[in-house]
This record gives sequence, structure tokens and C-alpha cells, in this order.
Amino acid sequence: MSDAQHNLASARQRAFDILEHGRRRDFASRVLDWILVGLIIANVTGTLAQTLPEIEQAYGDQLQALDRICVLVFAIEYAARLWVAPEHPLLHGISPMRARLGFAATPMMVIDALAFVPFVLEVLFPGVAALRLTRLVRFLKLARYSPALATIGRVVALERRALLACVVILVGVMMAAAAAMHVVEGHIQPDRLGDMSKSMWWSAAMLAKIGGGELEPVTATGRIIAAITVMLGIFCFALPVAIIGRGFYEEIRRRDFVVTFAMVAHVPLFAHLDAASISDLVSILKARMVPAGTVIIRKGEPGDGMYLIASGTVQVDTVDGKILLHEGDFFGEMALLTRERRTATVTAIKSTDLLVLDCDDFHRFIDRNPDVGARVRAVAQQRKSEPVTRTG
Ligand code: CMP
Repeated sequence: MSDAQHNLASARQRAFDILEHGRRRDFASRVLDWILVGLIIANVTGTLAQTLPEIEQAYGDQLQALDRICVLVFAIEYAARLWVAPEHPLLHGISPMRARLGFAATPMMVIDALAFVPFVLEVLFPGVAALRLTRLVRFLKLARYSPALATIGRVVALERRALLACVVILVGVMMAAAAAMHVVEGHIQPDRLGDMSKSMWWSAAMLAKIGGGELEPVTATGRIIAAITVMLGIFCFALPVAIIGRGFYEEIRRRDFVVTFAMVAHVPLFAHLDAASISDLVSILKARMVPAGTVIIRKGEPGDGMYLIASGTVQVDTVDGKILLHEGDFFGEMALLTRERRTATVTAIKSTDLLVLDCDDFHRFIDRNPDVGARVRAVAQQRKSEPVTRTG
């Protein structure tokens, strides 16, 4: 490889680290994140503000210029992300062009591409002010930076079976209520309940609006059916809200920051794993941010999980001395392997980002990936036999 090619390759690797934030504590990566988040918020706020006639009149041109600057920056960002795509661990080993095409189809890149649609529409149909509101789609770009937004998609995906069951129940209740009402009052109010399409409309309105709107049942049986339908409506709508609410709470509690594929692939212990195993890890690892001075593990406590350092430094206090562990190292494995108590106290000496593998997930994972298990065991053994050497 020539010098120029080598420089280009390392520039691309560095750009990948900055853009795909595999290293959250990287200064350049954080600055870029903040600039992009700032521009997204400015763009969305500007779009909302432009709908107020007085603001449009006073600052319309400036807001339009701001929008154009945002589009330019987003375009550069999009092109840069495509350029660095071949560095993505998931896309190693295929041609750069195919890597870029594959990367362009990932959900976040599709959202990034959608962010240009408003600009194209505005150019094609100048003067249609309502089209500006399509710029609000850029809000979705924040999903890349927000564990909350990224989480909601995951929750819906995880709970899809329960949510589908809710839809089935809702449709079932709607049809049953419509059929009952059609049978009981169809001949009395033929214009409203005369066929199933009319009755279904009535039952949908009843279920969703908690009240029948214009149509009052005229028979006692009809009123009973309507009352039951209203109650079932509350139940049918509360159920998915509760399912998503619970899933969201559980997911968000696990994640102080977004765990990315690149972040997991950076951990040396996992670097050799295939894409499927790394994706598996992305979904089971918890993310914890701890400030300097936090005691992460206390000697003598039971083992609850293994920790991987995504960035930062921790200190292990053993009877033989203090050992520092850095980015890429792991700790907390001994108690999990021996199912005994913690052998040392571990404290963060810088603010540190940790990826945590719960005890059960740890055992399941090393059962499925025995080579990772063997490496963890070897490191634990070495730590026991040579307690004061730094063993990451
Ligand atoms: P565990 O015993 O579960 O909790 C304390 C952790 O400190 C332990 O697992 C190891 O991961 C780590 N640890 C203990 N002794 C050493 C050592 N000599 N060198 C590096 N890490 C250690």
C-alpha cells in the first residue's frame, strides 16, 4: 500500500470513529455530535417559528438561509457516513461499494436520506409554504443521539407479539359489538346500524371515543351492549399503552447511553466475533455511566455481572496492590465464573462508560461462544496467579 493510500485509510478509520461514535469520550466525536444535534434542533425550531406570520415577515430570509446551511451540513454528513461505511465492522470483507449500499439501507441512514426530501420538494414546488412542514421529519435524526428515541423502536419491535395480540383483541371486540348491535337494533335504526359496515363504524367510534357520538341505542339490550363496548374500549386502548410503557421503562433503565455496534466491536474481547454475535451483544449489554470515585464492585459482594470498559479507567484494589484497567479491558468476571464472592473492590478513577453483561446473559453468551468463555477464563486465571500484573 502506498503512503497516500495508507494515509487515506487511516483518515477514513479516524472519520469512522468520530462519526459513528464508537468512542463516546472522544472529544472530536462529542463536538461533532453536539454541532449536529444543535443544527437539527435549530432547523426544527426554525421551521415551527416560520409558521408564525410575524416571525416569517421579520426573519423569513434568515430562517430560510439557516435551513439551507443545515441541508448543506447534513449533505456533507451523509456523504461522510457513506464514505466511512467500509470501516464498519459489520461490513468488513465486502467491496466498498457494496458496503456503502448496505449501509445506506440501515434505518438511521434511511432517516438521514429522508431528511433531504423536504429540500427536494421545496425546490420542485417553490412557493408551497405548507411543504416546509415536511422538514419536521429531521427531528427523527435525533434518534442517533437519544437512548430514548432509539429505545422506542426497539420496544415496539420486542413487544410486537403482545401488540399484535392487542390489535387482534381490538378487532375481535369491534366485530362482536358491531354484530350484536346490528342484530338487536339493525331493524330499528337501519340508516345507522342496517349493515355490518355501518355497525362497525358505530362500534369503532364507541370503542375509541368512549361514547357513541350521535347514535343513542333505543332498546335496553342495545344500551347494555353499548355500555359493555365502552368498557372494553378503555381496556383495549389501555393495554398497548401499558405494554409499551412497561417495555420502555425497562429498556431506558438499562441504558445511560446508546450502545452501538461499533462500540461493542471495539472491545478486544469481542473483536473476532461475527456480526450476528455482536448484534446479540448490542441487545443484551446494559450501558452505565459512572462518575470518577464511584465504587463499581465491592469486595465480598455477590457477583451480578461482568463489566467492559467502553471508555475511562478503573482501579482494582487487591490484597497485593492496585491495578489500573483501561478502555477495552474487562473486570468482574471472577465471581461469575466461580459463583463465589467478589475478590476485589473496583473504583472508577475517571468518569467511565461501562458495558454491563448480566450474570445470566454472561453464562448464556459464553455457552454459545466458548472461545470468548475460554479467553475470559484464561484472563481470570492469570489475574489469580500473577495478581499484580496488568491483565486486561
Ligand atoms: P470479581 O472477583 O468478580 O470482582 C472483582 C474484580 O476485580 C475481579 O472479578 C477481577 O475482574 C478484577 N481483579 C481481581 N484481581 C485482579 C488482578 N490481579 N488484576 C486485574 N483485575 C483483577
